[in-house]
Amino acid sequence: MNIFPNKPKYQENHFVQEIFRHEKYTSLSQQEKEIFLDRLVNLNIKEARRKPFDLFFPSHSFKDLLIDKKVLDLGCSIGGTTIQMGEDWKVKEFQGIDVSEESIAIGNRFASNFSSDTVYGFSCSYAEKMSFADESFDAIVSDDTIEHVRSVKETLLECKRILKKDGVAYIVFPSFKLPFGGAHIGSVTKTPFLEWFFSPKTINGAYQEIVAKWGDDLNWYKPRKESEGDWAVVKGGIGVNGTTYKKFLSTANDVGFKEISFERIPLLLISNTASKYPIVKFMSSMLKPLLSIDFFKDYLSHRLVFVLKK
Ligand SMILES: C[S@@+](CC[C@H](N)C(=O)[O-])C[C@H]1O[C@@H](n2cnc3c(N)ncnc32)[C@H](O)[C@@H]1O
Repeated sequence: MNIFPNKPKYQENHFVQEIFRHEKYTSLSQQEKEIFLDRLVNLNIKEARRKPFDLFFPSHSFKDLLIDKKVLDLGCSIGGTTIQMGEDWKVKEFQGIDVSEESIAIGNRFASNFSSDTVYGFSCSYAEKMSFADESFDAIVSDDTIEHVRSVKETLLECKRILKKDGVAYIVFPSFKLPFGGAHIGSVTKTPFLEWFFSPKTINGAYQEIVAKWGDDLNWYKPRKESEGDWAVVKGGIGVNGTTYKKFLSTANDVGFKEISFERIPLLLISNTASKYPIVKFMSSMLKPLLSIDFFKDYLSHRLVFVLKK
């Protein structure tokens, strides 16, 4: 593949899970680590306040819908966004699950020192197999996680199982065909549109070749064992599964959600660039009518945004 690989730079707030293997983290004392981790969660909360999940659902008011409810954040990472949503929406109980043990430990540590009327709990689990009882949640939110799970079908089956009758899942993720970032390798290749021409498997192969050539200074960035195989491996162990609008819709239908709707959020609409430059926001909103046509949904959506009702 004709790409020009770039070694990624260390960015503490972008590559949360990779940090734990970076010497900038591993060389810290226990006390320094704790200060560092609290700072990370606070950064996460700040970022979530600046660009809240609500922006993806302009026709829903979560403050009205989820007040006093029990909600799950599927793929919560270190929990900063969960806490921002919980505080903002005044939910009764917010659980978060994530496959990363380190992230979950950080979330729990932070939440135990955080005073709030909302009960927070974070647990380490695959979205495909959660330990919650049937019909235990009023709602599920999930931001930028569905593209990573190994099985979208098993994940949605689990979501349906743990939602109460008429419970709703609010799901946001980038299509694999998103021109800038669907395969999550932009920081390495600096080459957009690869996802339009190559399968996840091919891109994974190319990525593996690139990182194999990196020296030990980028050891922290290389994939973890459990992520290897026929699954695109990027950013130190999070794979992408190649989900597109059509694939997700047909899976949600197979799983048997009663109502499935799609929010049209055009490219760049919810981005730092759009909040900085009104012209970008205006041009982005001009794309919205095109998102009524299924063909464009993958290419021109900033994120695929679904509401699934049980
Ligand atoms: C891009 S992060 C999104 C984090 C957070 N929702 C946000 O928007 O900031 C994706 C998260 O999904 C988690 N993840 C990936 N595959 C998963 C799986 N099968 N089950 C649970 N969590 C998973 C990763 O560990 C990671 O924390």
